[in-house]
This record gives sequence, structure tokens and C-alpha cells, in this order.
Amino acid sequence: MKFLLKLPKEFIRLTFKLYIIQLIFLSIVKNMLTAKQIENFEKNGYLVIEDYINKDQRDALMNRAKELIDDFKPPSSHSVFTTNEQERTSDEYFLSSGDQIRFFFEEKAIDKNGNFTVPKQQSINKIGHAQHALDPVYKQVIKELNFPVIGKQLGIKDPRQLQSMHIFKQPSIGGEVGLHQDSTFLYTTPMSCIGFWVALEDANIENGCLQAITGGHSTPLKKRFKLAADGGTEFEILDDSPWPDQSLDLLEVKAGTLIVLHGQLPHYSAANTSKRSRQAFSLHLVDQNCQYAEDNWLQSSI
Ligand code: FE2
Repeated sequence: MKFLLKLPKEFIRLTFKLYIIQLIFLSIVKNMLTAKQIENFEKNGYLVIEDYINKDQRDALMNRAKELIDDFKPPSSHSVFTTNEQERTSDEYFLSSGDQIRFFFEEKAIDKNGNFTVPKQQSINKIGHAQHALDPVYKQVIKELNFPVIGKQLGIKDPRQLQSMHIFKQPSIGGEVGLHQDSTFLYTTPMSCIGFWVALEDANIENGCLQAITGGHSTPLKKRFKLAADGGTEFEILDDSPWPDQSLDLLEVKAGTLIVLHGQLPHYSAANTSKRSRQAFSLHLVDQNCQYAEDNWLQSSI
């Protein structure tokens, strides 16, 4: 190390500056989509990018989730997450989670008497919805992943990181997520929601990978999930025509893959009946130039 002391300070400063510029350049290049990728997103309603999140970043998110669950003291009433119609729990704990870090259980993790059927670490369906703004580990990794750069290339003029979720799809009990469009839950006028879903572990047919109707993003928005005038939530039906008569494509991916989802793309994931979990992290962007509905279920002060 002694030789470093002999180098002129100006040289060391310049070398450091060049290193930083190189890092920024590499980060921008990594997030630049090719014309073909943009064309694929517009044609299919989704885009798959392999090796987007590295092992260190995946481990950081999974380890942090484990720590948060260790520190979590389950409340007396258990919130359960499901997108299956009226089964969704719309209690205060869920409705006020837009600017909090909260924990939602797998349906099968709690029996009829309210007792856990599995250890706490295997009981959580998801953590959400504001760790992107509140937790230092999530904040750092999300900053590195820089989804807004991709969002801008796909049409969002002024991206807002609105909602984050760490999704577990626990072994054997990970619940199904019904066919839905993300703009149902994060509605703006005009619609602008784009979802970023990263596989923290391999996702395949056995453990409940994403499935999508390729090209189905031209389907009108079916419904909105919103705050009901008399409290709680409700679905407002916007279009009652059937889903496109087209089978779902399996989006089987390796850990590290990013899937970018158009807000109107119909997608689904089956229950996890395997012995392996299927952890994923997702973050949704909306355009701040579009009007965010005042009666959206998710309201955030951050
Ligand atoms: Fe979704």
C-alpha cells in the first residue's frame, strides 16, 4: 500500500472519479432496453430479462425479509392476502399498509381456530407495501436496480415508486393468485401502472411461477379494487366481457430474472404444492403525470 502514498493526490482523485463515472455508465447501460425489447413489451405485454438481479442483491433481500419476520409480532387478528375476489381481507391493517411495512399470512398457515399450522417463518404470504421507502436494505437494492430507468423507456414520463411486495409462495401452502390486471389495484387516469417482478428463487410450474395471456394487455380493464363509500373495499366492474379465449403461457424463469408487466396484462400464479418456496420481489411504478385515483385502496403519504 505504501506506493499509493507516493502517487500524486490529483492522480488518485482522478482515478476515483473515473471509477465512479464508470459505475454510473454501467448502471445506465444495464438498464437500457434494446429496440427489440421495447417492441416485445408492446407486442406481448411483458418482457423477460435474465440475470437482472445478482446473487448478492437477492440474498440481501431474502435475509432482510427473514430478519423482519423474526422481529414481527403477529397481531391478534390475522390478515390474509389473496386476490381471489371477495376473499380478500380488507381490514384496517391491510388498508393502511400503503406507507407501512406489514406482514400478511398465507391462508393455509392459520386453521379455523386461528392457530398457526406452520412456523412463523413459513407462514408469511407477503411483506408490503412500502419497504422501498422505509427499509434501508430494500432501499439500497431497489436504488441499484433502478426500475424507473426502464419505466421511462416504456412510456412512464415521471415514475413514482408506489408499491413494493416481498412475495414468498411458501412450500406446500403458497396460495393461488387469481387472474388479474395490476391496474385493477393501482388505477390512474390515463392508466400508467407497470409492474417489476424479480425472481429471488427459480420459479417454475411446480412452485407457482407467473402465467400470462401473451398479448392480452389490449384487454380493457375489467374492474377496479377501490375504497367503498361505506368503509372497506369493493370491486367496481368496468367491463364484464369474458377474458380473451387464450391459454396462459408459463413464465418459468431462473432466479435473478426480471419480468416487466404491463398494467393491463392478465396474469396469474397457481398455488405452490411443491416443497420449494418461490420468493419474488415486486415493485410497481405509476406515472405522476397521470391522476392517481383518490379512492384507490392503496393510499400512501410517502
Ligand atoms: Fe399482479
